[in-house]
Formats: sequence, C-alpha cells, structure tokens
Amino acid sequence: MRAAQCTAATLKALWRTRRKSLVPIDQSGVWRFRELLPPFSDEQKILTLREGNTPLYSLPSSARAVGIEYLLAKHQGMNPTGSFKDTGMTVAASVARREGFRWVGCASTGNTSASMAAYATRAQMRSLVLIPHGKVAWGKLSQALDYGAITIELKTDFDGCSRILDEVVDRMPVYLLNSVNPYRIEGQKTAAVELLEQLDWQSPDHIIVPGGNLGNSSALGKALLELEELKFINRLPKLSIVQAEGANPLVRTMRETGGKKLISVQAETAASAISIGSPASWKKAVRVLEQTGGTVAEVSEVEIAWAKAQIGADGVGCEPASAVTLAGLKKMVQGGFVKPGESVVLILTGHLLKDPEFTLKFHRGKLFGGGPPPREAEILAPYRRAPIVLEASGDAVISALKQAEERSEA
Ligand code: F0G
Repeated sequence: MRAAQCTAATLKALWRTRRKSLVPIDQSGVWRFRELLPPFSDEQKILTLREGNTPLYSLPSSARAVGIEYLLAKHQGMNPTGSFKDTGMTVAASVARREGFRWVGCASTGNTSASMAAYATRAQMRSLVLIPHGKVAWGKLSQALDYGAITIELKTDFDGCSRILDEVVDRMPVYLLNSVNPYRIEGQKTAAVELLEQLDWQSPDHIIVPGGNLGNSSALGKALLELEELKFINRLPKLSIVQAEGANPLVRTMRETGGKKLISVQAETAASAISIGSPASWKKAVRVLEQTGGTVAEVSEVEIAWAKAQIGADGVGCEPASAVTLAGLKKMVQGGFVKPGESVVLILTGHLLKDPEFTLKFHRGKLFGGGPPPREAEILAPYRRAPIVLEASGDAVISALKQAEERSEA
C-alpha cells in the first residue's frame, strides 16, 4: 500500500497500531512509516536496529536563555548508534543487501561511518570508511572500529575523502552510502514524520537543523512537503539551517548569490561533524529554504560551546554540531525571524558521548587552544565545571561542597 492510495487518517491510525506490534520492522521508527518509503517487497532482507523512536524533549532552561516561551528538541542522538544517520542507513543498507553487494563505503566526518559499519556487519557486508585524519571524534572512530569497518584515515579533509571515495566507487563494486544515496534521504524523512506524530500533527512554527553535507535538511524538507501534499498537516513549518562560521558554504551561497551558485570554503570548526566546505546537497537545501520560508544562520565557535553547555544544563546533552541549532535560534530571536511566542523544534543530531574530548576541553578551559579564551568566551565561565581532584577525605569533600553552595548563592 502506498501513502497516496489511502487517507491520512487511515495511515495515522495504522502507524499508531504498529507501535504495539512485536514484528521488528513495525518496531522500527523508520519502517513503521513504510508507506512513505520506496517499496521494499522482500521484508526478510530489511536490516533494522529499531532506529528512530527518538524522544521529543522540552528545553525550559534553554528557552529562557534565548528568550522564547517554549522550546522542544527532537533528539536524534538517541538512535542505536547515537546519531540521526541510522534512520537513513537502515533503508540504504537494506538496499545494498538486497542488491547483493559485498562492500559498502562512505566518506564521513564520523557518524555516517559508525552507522554504516553497524548495519553492514549485521548482514555480513564489509564496510570501507574514509575519514579525515585527526578530525573525527573518538566516540565515532571507536564505533567504526568495533563494528569491523576497514577504517582509513586520509591526510585530507572531509571534502577530500569524498572525492577519493567517488574514484574508488567508480573502479570497484562498492555501494556508496553517502548522503547523496537517495535511500538514505528517504529514511531520514521519517524523523519529520515521527516528530509531527509526536505533536499530534500540529506543525510547529519553526524547525531548526544543523547543516553539513545538507542531506538531512533536504530529507526533512522533502518529508514536510510530502506531508502537506498528502494532507497530514495543513501548514508548513519554516525549516532553517545553521552552520558554523568556519564551515559556512550554504550561508555564503545564500548571502552572496541568493542560492544560485555554490560558494565552497575551506572548512574549519571544532564541531567536526559539520566541518564540510563543499556540501553535496546544497541545491536541494536551497529549495527547501525557499519552499518552507526558512532562513540560514552562522554561529561562532564560542557560540557553539555556549549552546552545547546550555543544552547540557537542560539535562539533555548533544554533540557540538547539534548545538549550533540553539546558537542559531538565539540569533534568529535577536534578529526577529523567530518571535518569542512561536513554537520551535531543534533537531539534535548526535549524542553528547560522541565527542567527550570537546566536552572535557570545554570544562577544563582548553577548548580554545589552551591559551587565554577570546573575550567573548566570558559567557562560558558560568557553565564550566572542571573535575576537582582532592585528597581522599570526607572533610575535603564537604569543604568543596560548601564552596560550591556559596558560589551558587552568590
Ligand atoms: N550533525 C551531525 C551530528 C552530523 O554527523 C552531521 C553530518 C550533521 C549534523 C550534518 O548533516 O551532512 O546531512 O547536513 N555528518 C556526516 C557524517 C557528514 O559523515 O557523519 P548533513
């Protein structure tokens, strides 16, 4: 059955019923919505880790910090391998298995490779991972290794890894699992479907997403347009994209060419997941901005660090690349694009534990090269909590506790 053949009400009810099912593909937060995915007749070949099914949290402290009343976060970092990539990978890896591929491959800033390696090994497919040497967070690298990928660190950046992978795929029978793979985009659409289901099909005013290679924003935008077309929702949320200042090709493309010509950049940001200078899906992202009325924003390294700590203060946590959404929202509120009474959903794309090094450096005050932090970084001081090393005595601990109490009262 295809979505266009039945009413929205029928499908909404069917998808809800599947939540109670014991069948693995019904339990998947991606395949549960399979009427919106490309048909996959051989269900035995589907690879699922019960991806999707991610929580929608309120962020009350972060809402106050940016000056709006109500803020939600769809935490895609709560997927099986800790990032949103699983929602696309379950579909694309299943296709690779169905087509009989022995090898799958991707270039990655870390999360795609972790996800791909996990799904591939479950079907005894080999996986080839090309990552930029020294620029991938440890959590992600560890995952690719444990899930058995052939992991190659190339002495280049993400954009260089992508170019090499294209060459390898031309010459060898390796199935390409980068986000240009259309099946990944189809799977990633379901995050928006699940979000709207969680909101009882009432559209929020804004959805804000980080931008790297721009596959995710394209996927979410495609989902929103399809949901509107199929009458699941009666109004489109504005989908906005945030990038790091040091990796801002889409922001520059919009600002300098009105979205007509890609401005590539040499990417450099501590939010390593989105350190991408020449995004593959930029044209699709521009279309999504135009069709939904969204905007773009860029945020500094200090703003990213602030936003990550602030999301942590809500007890949620995410990786730096996800935190750009809150930093971008703050700018959109200040600039008047988001009004204080409007409803906003941030898409948090990766789990806090993906990049523990960033977090530890932040709390130890070493994020900005260990030297004196930029003046701007004074806003970070209240969020910093370096671990305290003490002699093993109750008195010492009680004294530290009292000091902390005095600081919080000050
Ligand atoms: N957030 C996280 C945590 C990511 O890992 C990525 C991309 C993005 C945001 C940006 O999404 O590329 O669809 O615009 N990571 C890719 C990877 C590039 O290889 O893991 P995008």
